[in-house]
Amino acid sequence: MVTSLPPRLEIRDIVKSFGARRVVDDVSLSVMPGQVTCLLGPSGCGKSTTLRIIAGVEMQDSGTIHLDGRLVCDTVTRVPPEGRGIGLMFQDFALFPHLTVARNVAFGLTGDRAARARRVDELLEKVNLSGYGDKHPHQLSGGEQQRVALARALAPRPRLMLMDEPFSGLDNRLRDGIRDTTLAVLKEEGAAVLLVTHEPDEAMRMADEIALMRDGRIVQQGSPYNVYTRPADRAAAAFFSDVNVIRGVSRGALTLTPFGEFLTPGHADGGEVEIVIRPQHLKIDFDRAGRGPHPTPMDGTPARGTVQRARFMGRESLVEFVMDYDGSTLTAAVPGVFLPKPGTALWLMIRRDRCFVFPAHRRA
Ligand SMILES: Nc1ncnc2c1ncn2[C@@H]1O[C@H](COP(=O)(O)OP(=O)(O)OP(=O)(O)O)[C@@H](O)[C@H]1O
Ligand SMILES: [Mg+2]
Repeated sequence: MVTSLPPRLEIRDIVKSFGARRVVDDVSLSVMPGQVTCLLGPSGCGKSTTLRIIAGVEMQDSGTIHLDGRLVCDTVTRVPPEGRGIGLMFQDFALFPHLTVARNVAFGLTGDRAARARRVDELLEKVNLSGYGDKHPHQLSGGEQQRVALARALAPRPRLMLMDEPFSGLDNRLRDGIRDTTLAVLKEEGAAVLLVTHEPDEAMRMADEIALMRDGRIVQQGSPYNVYTRPADRAAAAFFSDVNVIRGVSRGALTLTPFGEFLTPGHADGGEVEIVIRPQHLKIDFDRAGRGPHPTPMDGTPARGTVQRARFMGRESLVEFVMDYDGSTLTAAVPGVFLPKPGTALWLMIRRDRCFVFPAHRRA
């Protein structure tokens, strides 16, 4: 018989209001053992509140929390924070300034002295800080302090690590390296992790699963690949990159655009639709004395536009067009350097397989 493990963490229908405002609005999610789930969403959407409820420092109005299949909190039962076996790491991970690195890491450890010392050494080695045990926090760089905080949080072998924007205090150049070290250590320790971030790049880099949150709700949960390539709605697509939006009206399951007709099945006849495409999925082709490239089955009909502005961004160039067809603007991203002069006529092709079609977004 195959028995499957229960999720390390499972929260169901969590609701939390402050005054009249529902800050966490019916949130359910799970994290499997050994997995990193990122709770990703814009500022103020309720991420930290959700994490604080799981940690047990905030009480939900309703909903349940299970760890390894065991109920730790509903509105009747409430296991206190220290009884949940959860490790915490927040942005202001404040080490104890008067304690050495080794004693900081040993802080939450029980057991005999030799075992504690072994665990401290083991963790300092994992975070590449062997030999730093006798230093004090003020003698370390921000990145080193962050790694000590990680070692401290992991020392008691928590079943679940909750991390709230743990890298946001670090400068950009340090951050990628520390993210990778952190991820490697978390995986080695087999910890399940719920990591809060408002940065899509961080979530894409760290997560096995992304739970995308907006206005107190989880709007989508899945692997980074699925969330990026099959966004639930226009805002979910736009959270990960700039997007172009081509508006049209669906008639008989077809919508006319500058790029010819698009199949828009499932949209109401006469209903407004939005065709959403990321800038890197628009292809640029040259004008051939007023004639563009030939239509292809994949890219459909090309459309002509006039360059309005071109910017070099380092890894890519962004070229903004005004389309002949309807005066709408579209932006294409080209790898490397491509800076056509404003006023240049060029042709655009659209990767139809990379387009997302949604019912039109209400404009306020
Ligand atoms: N104790 C509280 N009392 C009243 N309102 C609160 C309280 N805690 C949080 N809020 C409000 O709830 C909303 C969600 O806050 P939360 O800290 O969960 O957001 P967040 O997603 O973590 O945002 P950020 O990315 O900026 O950290 C915010 O509007 C915040 O002002
Ligand atoms: Mg927060």
